[in-house]
Amino acid sequence: MTTRARIAGIGSHLPPKVVTNHDLAAQMDTSDEWIVQRTGIKQRRWVDHPTTTSDLALEAATIALEDAGVGPDDLDMIFLATLSPDHEFPGTACFLQAKLDVPPGVPAVDVRQQCTGFVYAMSMADQFIRTGFAGRVLVVGAEVHSKGLQMSDEGRDVTVLFGDGAGAAVVEAIEVADPATDSHVFSTHLHADGRHAEELWLPAPGMAFEDFMSHGQVDRGDIYPKMNGRAVYVNAVKRMGEAVEETLGANDVAIEDIDLFVFHQANLRINEAVAERFGIPGEKVFNTIDRFANTTAATIPIGLHTAVQEGRLEPGMLVAVAAFGSGFTWGSMLLRW
Ligand code: ACO
Repeated sequence: MTTRARIAGIGSHLPPKVVTNHDLAAQMDTSDEWIVQRTGIKQRRWVDHPTTTSDLALEAATIALEDAGVGPDDLDMIFLATLSPDHEFPGTACFLQAKLDVPPGVPAVDVRQQCTGFVYAMSMADQFIRTGFAGRVLVVGAEVHSKGLQMSDEGRDVTVLFGDGAGAAVVEAIEVADPATDSHVFSTHLHADGRHAEELWLPAPGMAFEDFMSHGQVDRGDIYPKMNGRAVYVNAVKRMGEAVEETLGANDVAIEDIDLFVFHQANLRINEAVAERFGIPGEKVFNTIDRFANTTAATIPIGLHTAVQEGRLEPGMLVAVAAFGSGFTWGSMLLRW
């Protein structure tokens, strides 16, 4: 018997307001045709104020706890992955802890690895469980992008890509007797290359400046996310492919052995390119980008939960997860559901 981590409960929450490509085309120089053709996105969900990232996280976490049949008192640790925190500090995991009524004293950690944040957080939960530091960990990916996007022609390349949402997993220790049948995480793999940090980033505000925040930053539009779309595309296809190869190789399994691939939802074309490279049949790749767009750290738990709800993910299945994001960061994970 070996102590391993498994996902015991999964949940997600998307705000009710649907924003279509046509809605965006009414506010900036874009079109449904351009967005669908380049990204696969048809619509996204955006919050109404005063909803925050921790509010979305709370909803997803509540569903995940219910699914696991446990309560906030049963948690030993919280990881919350986000690039859109409620406040600059303290971490959003602390706000979630208070809202969810997780007992004071339980550690709460923010993970800032953007689109790879959930994979990083899952890896850390896995390590803490393997060492015996924690028995049950709440792992959340949650984002509110809509309040920070540039609603003009200048920001259209980025603005059309992002949606708001949250997903959560309750990860708990399990004694694995038979890896071929028992639900558990086989392995996780993490990477970063900070040389590309400025290819996809939010330049300001920040301590890199003489003043943390200034009118000049606002006037120049430095407070909106900036992206070199071509560099992101090329690196995402390369690194996601490497991540898939690494997770399969580490566990001596083949593409054909995998029942479902749950990839980060940056852009449908990126996932199609990865699938084509490995000859993965389309029906084995679970995508949600058409309806929820890119919710960065939340795409993978939202994907896992949606796949369960739609009968695409069932106990015993072998699932490969891979993500790529700002940093650049990338990573993967193999698990038996
Ligand atoms: N609507 C209409 N036209 C637009 C839009 C828009 N929303 N955005 C850009 N354009 C215009 C550009 O201005 C450009 O016009 P020009 O030819 O007059 O200069 C034209 O469309 C083509 O722009 P390109 O950048 O050449 O378009 P490309 O085919 O490269 O597609 C895209 C852009 C979709 C961003 C592509 O580079 C891509 O898929 N990159 C990956 C980025 C990504 O997926 N990011 C997700 C977030 S990061 C992550 O999650 C990892």
